Amino acid sequence: MRTFCGALILLSCFMLAGCSPPLPDTLGDYAVECILMTPEPIPPTEDDPHVGFKDVYACGISEEDLLAQMSDGAPWPDGSMVLKESTKAHQGYPWLIATASKQAGSWEWAEYTRNFESEDFAQIPVGEDTCIDCHKKVKSSDYIYTHYITSNP
Ligand code: HEC
Repeated sequence: MRTFCGALILLSCFMLAGCSPPLPDTLGDYAVECILMTPEPIPPTEDDPHVGFKDVYACGISEEDLLAQMSDGAPWPDGSMVLKESTKAHQGYPWLIATASKQAGSWEWAEYTRNFESEDFAQIPVGEDTCIDCHKKVKSSDYIYTHYITSNP
């Protein structure tokens, strides 16, 4: 019986971990490897879906292609990713990371959060429809709100 309970606990741990995948390793170095699109953090807004001061990064795209993308509003290329990191005013460390990754011509949406600085980010099980419902308001710019402001005009 004891072994059975142990196995059950172990199984539930696996199942729980399965519900909350961690932040993919590929995002690990985004602050170094990606282009910061927002020279100043985007301040909180009244109906902010991702509460806090937000830095937005463009990954997997060259600066030249990013600038071209911004000027003609063409769809972002496959393999590119836009990542938003949000830090609450009273906390001093990011609590949320939201990503939009372009695969086979469409965006995949994901959101990761944590409660404490020492904690790993874990994906929250939010349906992509929630993200798309709002982001479709900017369908004309391929569902992406943020415009890249180059620091070297
Ligand atoms: C209620 C509207 C709303 C919802 C819902 C929403 N977003 Fe956003 N999102 C925004 C706005 C507005 C911005 C522009 C930056 C800002 O003001 O935070 C943004 C920015 C982003 C960005 C940076 C790229 C860009 O479009 O500027 C990503 C990535 C992102 N959101 C992912 C998500 C994901 C993933 C979800 C669902 C889990 C989601 N968003 C749900 C409104 C929304």
